[in-house]
Amino acid sequence: MNVLLTGGLGYIGSHTAVVLSHLGNQITLYDNLSNSTEIVAKNIEKICGQKINFVKGDVRNTETLKHVLTSFKIDSVIHFAGSKSVAESVKEPIEYYDNNVQSTISLLCAMRLAQVKSLVFSSSATVYGDPLYLPFDEQHPTNPISPYGRSKLHIEEMLADVAASDSEWCIACLRYFNPVGAHDSGLIGENPKGIPSNLMPYIAQVASGLREVLNVFGNDYPTRDGTGVRDYVHVMDIADGHAAALTYLRKHPSWQSINLGTGQGYSVLEIIDAFEVASGKSIPFRVVPRRAGDIAEFYSSTIIAQRELKWKASRDLINMCASTWKFQTQLTKS
Ligand code: NAD
Ligand code: UFG
Repeated sequence: MNVLLTGGLGYIGSHTAVVLSHLGNQITLYDNLSNSTEIVAKNIEKICGQKINFVKGDVRNTETLKHVLTSFKIDSVIHFAGSKSVAESVKEPIEYYDNNVQSTISLLCAMRLAQVKSLVFSSSATVYGDPLYLPFDEQHPTNPISPYGRSKLHIEEMLADVAASDSEWCIACLRYFNPVGAHDSGLIGENPKGIPSNLMPYIAQVASGLREVLNVFGNDYPTRDGTGVRDYVHVMDIADGHAAALTYLRKHPSWQSINLGTGQGYSVLEIIDAFEVASGKSIPFRVVPRRAGDIAEFYSSTIIAQRELKWKASRDLINMCASTWKFQTQLTKS
């Protein structure tokens, strides 16, 4: 199959590119490099042992996208490109609606022009908002609390309307929980620009000596040790989930939202402990006040993913930490 990955040089896109390439798909990566570099394309090629198509471009450029879709004879698109910081979205909502919602409209226009109607979209568990019950299943009401989360929900709703209007469209919205970890090679992983806002890359930078101490945002939550609990899922499992979604869409036209998580929550202190074991380094931390907008605890129901996609996360927390550490040490060396 010929698959276009928008945002294909980013964290999740690059790992998915490796999985799809190993499965024999012809992949084309489309990225404006706003949060990535071309070195990632070279490292994907090293891992896959073959040349990868990379086109530098912005998803909001409908004409270029249409040209790419037709000239590479694309069968399916996976739409990773977008902006993903909750805090930044509160400060810059217009940019977020532009780069998430507007860019998806551009992509849909290009796909319609090129007659490509199979799409997997990167959604997020953040569409659920505060839990009314746990685990979050796909029926849980959606009530996102940030512009970022609302942009994801608006896109999901838009995609449902598109699928309802034309039975040839096949669309899967994958609601990721907390993707972490890296490819076993240590060549690709999460390399945020500036100060990491997410827990795992921050811990990795503390372990490598780039940062002095981890701030733990609150230890007075109603959780087993007072710190926030999340469903961390290995990025290679997430990548496998996309391959499963593409297979699923070939047999199931229409629209579907599906969680990608492990079903198991870990607290911040449990992640610190696991990282210390995996890296052999100590992680100094201090407890600071809660971060605005954080939820105490959430994790995923995995029933729909297992039933529909035949997908289940298989990599454990130690693997998530060890692969992050391998990537971090190679990054620090280079
Ligand atoms: P990332 O920032 O590493 O990757 C996104 C890529 O898209 C980057 O390479 C960036 O340069 C590119 N890009 C951004 N805007 C673009 C545009 N207009 N045109 C072309 N390219 C553009 O992010 P990621 O962690 O790989 O996330 C991928 C997707 O998954 C995002 O849509 C994100 O919202 C979603 N998601 C991520 C997480 C997470 O924790 N990483 C959780 C839930 C959902
Ligand atoms: N945390 C700290 N210190 C830090 C960073 C995080 O204590 O320096 C804590 C948070 O308070 C939270 C947990 O670690 O309890 C996880 O925080 P992250 O920032 O790593 O992840 P979030 O659950 O806040 O959000 C992530 C992505 C969102 C996505 C969401 C669900 O950043 O984009 O997962 O998929 F929507």
